[in-house]
Amino acid sequence: MNESIIMRQLQFYIISLIGLLLYCTVAPAKSSRFRAMFRDDPSTTICIGWDQLSGENPVLHYGIRQEKDAVAQQTKPIRVVEYHKMNNHFVRLSNLKPATQYYFEVKDSEGTSKRYWFETLPNNSEVPLSIIAGGDSRRTRLGHSTWEPRVQTNKMVPKIKPHFIAFGGDFTFLDNPIQWQMWFDDWQHTIDSSGKITPLVVARGNHERENASVYNLFDSPNQRIVYALNFGGDLMRFYTLNSLDPVVESDQTLWFESDLKKHKGQEIWRFVQYHHPIVPHQSHKKIKPDEYKSWAPLFYKHKVQLAIECDAHVAKITWSIVPDANGDDGFKKVETGGTVYVGEGSWGLKRINDSDHDWTRASGSFYQFKWMVLSKGKAILRTVITESPDAVSEVDLKDRYSPPAGMELWKVNEQSEIILKP
Ligand SMILES: [Fe+2]
Repeated sequence: MNESIIMRQLQFYIISLIGLLLYCTVAPAKSSRFRAMFRDDPSTTICIGWDQLSGENPVLHYGIRQEKDAVAQQTKPIRVVEYHKMNNHFVRLSNLKPATQYYFEVKDSEGTSKRYWFETLPNNSEVPLSIIAGGDSRRTRLGHSTWEPRVQTNKMVPKIKPHFIAFGGDFTFLDNPIQWQMWFDDWQHTIDSSGKITPLVVARGNHERENASVYNLFDSPNQRIVYALNFGGDLMRFYTLNSLDPVVESDQTLWFESDLKKHKGQEIWRFVQYHHPIVPHQSHKKIKPDEYKSWAPLFYKHKVQLAIECDAHVAKITWSIVPDANGDDGFKKVETGGTVYVGEGSWGLKRINDSDHDWTRASGSFYQFKWMVLSKGKAILRTVITESPDAVSEVDLKDRYSPPAGMELWKVNEQSEIILKP
C-alpha cells in the first residue's frame, strides 16, 4: 500500500470521526409530538406530554425563560402510557410562578429536544384572558397524509398566541394510531417560531371511541373527562362535560350541579364546553334531549353565560336564551340572564348550516374557531375564519387582545365582535 492511499484512508477515518462527534453533540432527542395541557391550577401548574420515539431515560429540564440558566430544574415523567402506538410521556409541573414564561426541553440518551416555552396564567381577575375554543379537527375520509384544513386552522393559533385552547373533541376520524400520530404532527403547527406552546383543555367527542383516548393522550384530570378549572383566580370557572357518558341523573350531572352550587357567587364567569350540541344547526344532526333536560336548566339556574358546543361542523352563535317548553325547539330569547350558545366544531371540517331557529343570532359554513377576550366587565366574542393563515400577522404578546393584521373575522350584522356582560 503506497503512502498516498494510507493518507487518503487516514483522512477518511478522521473526517468520519469528526462527523460522528458532531452528530453526538447536536443529535436531537427522539421526542416529538409535543402537547401541553391544563389539568390543575393554570397559574401554578402545567402538564407537558410528548411521544418518546427512542432514547432512554428522558428528563424534562425547565426553568424561568428570562433567567440565566433557564433550564436548571429537572423532572422525570410521572406517567408513561403506550397508546395508539405512541410512547406517551407526561410531566406534571407544579409550584410554578403565576404569569411567568418557562422554557423546557427534553434530554434523553440520544440528545436534546428543541427548546420550547409556555406561560403560566395570571392568578387574578385584573388581567384579561385570550381564549380559543373549537373542535372537530377530524378529516372526512381516510388518508395517510396531513389534513390541510386542520393544518390551516392550527397555523392560526400562533397568530393569536392565546392563553389556552378549549378543544371540544372529535380530534380524528377513526381514533387509530396513524390518525392520532398525524394529528399530533399537525398540532406542532400551533407552536410559534419562538417555541411557544399553547395549553389545551380537552373534551371528548364521539369519534373518540372511549374516554381512554383522551385520558391517555392528554393526561386529562380524570378518566371520565369531566372537570372544572378556575382561570384568572376568580375570573372564570371553566367546565368540561362529557356528552358521550350518561347525562340524565348521572354522576357527572350530579357533580356539575353540586360544583355550581358550591361556587355560587365566587367567579365572575361560568363557561362550559361539551361535544354534542343541544340543538344543532345542521339538519343531519339530532337534538339531544338528555342534555336539554339535564344541563340546559342548570346553565340557566346557575348563570352559565357561555356554552361551547361542537360536532355539527357549522359556525353558530345564538342570542342569550333559556329553556322554554313552548319555544322554538325548546328555547326562547331573553334580554338578560340567559346563556349564549356558540359552536359548532369546524376546526377541520365544515357542513351546510341549514337549521336555524328564531333564537339563532347567526350561522355559517366555514372553517373557524371562537376567540374570546375575557375580562371582569365583559367578554369579547369573535369568530376567526381560519382558511388563510399565511395572510395573517402574529400578535405581539404585549398587545395580544386585538386582532392581528390580515385576520378575517366573521361579521354578524356587520359586527365582528359580540360583547357579553357577566
Ligand atoms: Fe362529533
